[in-house]
Amino acid sequence: MYGDDIASVLITQEEIAAKTKELAELIAKRYPADAPEGDLLLVGVLKGAIFFMTDLAKALSIPTQMEFMAVSSYGSSTSSSGVVRIMKDLDKDIAGRNVLIVEDIIDSGLTLSWLKRNLSTRNPASLEVVTLLRKPDALRTHVDVAHVGFDIPNEFVVGYGLDYAERYRDLPYIGTLDPKVYS
Ligand code: PRP
Ligand code: MN
Ligand code: MG
Repeated sequence: MYGDDIASVLITQEEIAAKTKELAELIAKRYPADAPEGDLLLVGVLKGAIFFMTDLAKALSIPTQMEFMAVSSYGSSTSSSGVVRIMKDLDKDIAGRNVLIVEDIIDSGLTLSWLKRNLSTRNPASLEVVTLLRKPDALRTHVDVAHVGFDIPNEFVVGYGLDYAERYRDLPYIGTLDPKVYS
């Protein structure tokens, strides 16, 4: 699949599954199953977070509800523009709810920092973030993130939801993209 576009496998399917289980256990401890705020509301950020969102929800031992938002900051470029557009907003009011934003990756941090500000104006009871991946060397703004799966080097990665120009999301692992693909 995809010929030799993938230069290396950075995180295997098995490593993703083990980390997801570990994160799910930590998250389940933070939210009582019968919280007065209702079920934990997972807000998945389309499209990148789709696989992590569904696998995390299945791994959690507490009831959760799922909502999705689609925002876009990259388009088909490999670097973040910092311009965030809402392509699809939440369907439901989140006031008074425990909200956990689920992201696939924090790169510059601009998308998430914008999203946290946006959602916090809607008065959730709590607002935290879980991300599978983070690139510490690419951060351009500070964002508080409660749970991080893996800190990774500042390379362009694809797979498990992450795309380059909408391709490679369907790979079951995280791989680095051969620079020949985007240069
Ligand atoms: C990617 C990724 C994160 C965001 C991270 O989404 O899924 O949401 O960029 O970048 P940042 O920290 O530099 O802001 P993208 O905008 O490519 O949309 P997608 O999820 O539909 O691929
Ligand atoms: Mn995304
Ligand atoms: Mg993308």
